[in-house]
Amino acid sequence: MEADFDALRKEFPLLQRKTYLNSGSYCALANEVKAAFEAYMDDRLAVGANWDVWVAKNEAVRALMATLLRASPDEIAVTASVSAGLNALASALDFSGPRNKVVVSDFEFPTNAQIWHAQEPRGARVVHVPRAADGYIPAQMFEQAIDERTQLVAVTHVCFRNGAKLDIPGIVRLARAKGARVLLDCYQSVGSLDIDVKSLDVDFAVGGMLKYLLGTAGIGFLYARDSMVRSLVPTNSGWFAQAEITAMDITANRPAPNARRFEAGTPPVVNCYASEAGLKLLLRVGIGAIERRVYALTRQCMAGLQEIGWPSVTPCEDARRGATVAVPSRDSARLTAELMKRDIVTSYRDDNVRASFHFYNNREDVETLLAALKDLRGPFGPRPPHAD
Ligand SMILES: Cc1ncc(COP(=O)(O)O)c(C=O)c1O
Repeated sequence: MEADFDALRKEFPLLQRKTYLNSGSYCALANEVKAAFEAYMDDRLAVGANWDVWVAKNEAVRALMATLLRASPDEIAVTASVSAGLNALASALDFSGPRNKVVVSDFEFPTNAQIWHAQEPRGARVVHVPRAADGYIPAQMFEQAIDERTQLVAVTHVCFRNGAKLDIPGIVRLARAKGARVLLDCYQSVGSLDIDVKSLDVDFAVGGMLKYLLGTAGIGFLYARDSMVRSLVPTNSGWFAQAEITAMDITANRPAPNARRFEAGTPPVVNCYASEAGLKLLLRVGIGAIERRVYALTRQCMAGLQEIGWPSVTPCEDARRGATVAVPSRDSARLTAELMKRDIVTSYRDDNVRASFHFYNNREDVETLLAALKDLRGPFGPRPPHAD
């Protein structure tokens, strides 16, 4: 049975005050996630250091993330951020040989390019795949960049700037043909789209809990394919990355036999409480139902924008889009502020205002946004095309 979205909406008190279209930046807070934060405070007051519970929470997050991605818990590292996971992985890669190339796209969030450029002193060469004339990056654009020297193709699933979704199966096929590994940055999709790392056939995936996963900042994950883990020894490490955390052996580095080797120090305990609650809620609603609802809402929004004569820069086909619809504006910062005055929460990147949808949004939210945009089109519409 499909989830009761009207009832679920009531679990997010913010939605009674705001038209909240900013889950691509930070999710709305669910009552049960707030209760999880409070449970942590209660534990602190009642018990002080409750390490057994805290370790169990960390493991619960690992197991829930594995369920969501269709991976095994041994393939999941619970990290402090996407950046922390990428740095741990990068530290385990060898760029001194002939396979020194990392291929990224022009749709990357900065951290998934900067961290690879940071490996240049270690021999890495970073190649950027540009957009085609229509602003999208079809898989064919990767064909030239991926070759026998490519060690890793590190790509975003959905672009944080314009909401475009890359053709991951197509990119994976090109990478496999040249023996390269693939890392998926799914921060802008995980929790809103159904991601099966096994059927996508990616080697690594990174994301975090503060957007569509309904959790909080300060916690993320790194998925590393089981067959790959033991051959990778991160030099970014710590005591929680060891095979025996409690051994307290200071004479050697003995990395865990599983993806935990990509972790570092004390887990983000309070964030584990919140993320466990967020992930449980998400899995209860069902990722398939969430994806269907998100597509229905973005489709409605794209069609409505067309009707008011303010077309989106986000691709029209579902296969090329995630949960975000981006609208071009001559002053995206002020348009975001004007929308906020009307209690419509969006965000902006470059010349675009981003509206991002989750299962707790409804058709009325889309209509509210469209009505406001229709009203604001005069001063804030897209820049006129250059007359050249
Ligand atoms: C696609 C994507 N990757 C990475 C990040 C940043 O991750 P972190 O701050 O956890 O390193 C973001 C943040 O918005 C993002 O949207």
